[in-house]
Amino acid sequence: MVMRISVKPTFSIAVVTLSLLFALLIFSLSSPFSQTSLPAPSNLGEKGIWNVRRMYEWRPCKWWLQSHLPALPAQTNGYIRVDCYGGLNQMRRDLCDGVGIARLLNATLVLPKFEVAAYWNESSDFDDVFDVDYFIQQMSGFIRVAIELPPEIASREPFHVDCRKRKGQFDYIESVLPFLLEHHYISITPAMSQRRDRYPQYAKAALCQACYTALRLTRSLEKKASELLEAMPKPFLSLHLRFEPDMVAYSQCEYTGLSPGSIKAIEDARGERKPWTGELAQLWRKRGKCPLTPNETAFILQALSIPTNTHIYLAAGDGLMELEGLTSVYSNVVTKSSLLSGEDFKSMHGNTKAALDYYVSVNSDSYVATYFGNMDKMVAAMRAFKGLYKTLFLSRRAFAEFTSRGLKGEELSQALWEAHRDDFVAGKGSALPDCFCEFEL
Ligand SMILES: *[C@@H]1O[C@H](CO)[C@@H](O)[C@H](O)[C@H]1NC(C)=O
Ligand SMILES: *[C@@H]1O[C@H](CO)[C@@H](O)[C@H](O)[C@H]1NC(C)=O
Ligand SMILES: *[C@@H]1O[C@H](CO)[C@@H](O)[C@H](O)[C@H]1NC(C)=O
Repeated sequence: MVMRISVKPTFSIAVVTLSLLFALLIFSLSSPFSQTSLPAPSNLGEKGIWNVRRMYEWRPCKWWLQSHLPALPAQTNGYIRVDCYGGLNQMRRDLCDGVGIARLLNATLVLPKFEVAAYWNESSDFDDVFDVDYFIQQMSGFIRVAIELPPEIASREPFHVDCRKRKGQFDYIESVLPFLLEHHYISITPAMSQRRDRYPQYAKAALCQACYTALRLTRSLEKKASELLEAMPKPFLSLHLRFEPDMVAYSQCEYTGLSPGSIKAIEDARGERKPWTGELAQLWRKRGKCPLTPNETAFILQALSIPTNTHIYLAAGDGLMELEGLTSVYSNVVTKSSLLSGEDFKSMHGNTKAALDYYVSVNSDSYVATYFGNMDKMVAAMRAFKGLYKTLFLSRRAFAEFTSRGLKGEELSQALWEAHRDDFVAGKGSALPDCFCEFEL
């Protein structure tokens, strides 16, 4: 069997370059970050991870916010609707890409379709989550948006072009434009691997504007979300902890010491995907493929000198397992269901609940994620947009690597501190390419 590793090329290269630069700096100067001069985490007192001096930071790029874009082409090549699947943040990612593609093809954008039913078993479309008028207004000058379709195409469903399975040197002009010209109205689901680096600036700008400026929650959802934010004691940390049965099953990792309830839930979610065993399992774990348990998360948070009385908002879905591993150490943990009144909450669905977690996380004092999923990327980017720099992704790989070397207790804690401190100093993982640029501080 072959293990598949997915990497985001542009991003990884940026990170590698950055890490190299950073390593050079560390070793050439006797910088305040050199290992010997740092106190052990337990002696840090009020310091802690957020007080470490950063060297790099991601901010929205000036070119996109200030550049003079060429006028929209006089003629449209046709109409494109972006069909989005999955959870809220995956749909948003596809929407962002789709807008860039539509602009690339000189097409008119039709409001996107959110295919939520299959995932959340509900029907909430784009306009149930996002403010449509605001979106249209914000996209002005970036792409043409059709509020109503011309009569000759309004009566029919668009021709669907599913790009999800396409990989590698995928070129939308070559592969999708012919369908657009033939059918005049198509729907697309963007490909997983993007070639955005080749887009002309005007297409990148449309993507960035759509993704980071033009999306605002509907008024009612934003009201609910800000109530939730108000209800949180300040300051607080939003923790996106991913240790749900489907996630663990999908990861193909094995854990010891789980409760019988968790073991059963994971088994039920497994399906065809069997966990790796023996040496492969260790290799897999060392590659950082295994979700952190709440217990491991609590350990890392402590290693980062995040005080155990910190108010924590748990940005997580239902079904989180082994939560006591966290709450036995961090006792001030709250969830949205404990803050919102029962009636309100019952009427909400997966997508709108996910929107609440998103909103609170974007506006929290600090954000820590145990994974690097669609929500984490989106939240990190929006936080970078707002200049909120206390954002960190916990390293599954570092944790696995150190524990496999037999590190424990204070030694493990120190090693985890160093690994995460270096990530934080380098601004690693906190933004997306294209719409963001790194700045040296
Ligand atoms: C889109 O329009 C621009 C000019 O505004 C042109 O340079 C480009 O080739 C067009 N692209 C397509 C795919 O039609
Ligand atoms: C989806 O909802 C329908 C009706 O609301 C229900 O009958 C069905 O069992 C649900 N399906 C799943 C997979 O939850
Ligand atoms: C968490 O892990 C530690 C070892 O790091 C162990 O001693 C402790 O019992 C675990 N706690 C829970 C709640 O599982």
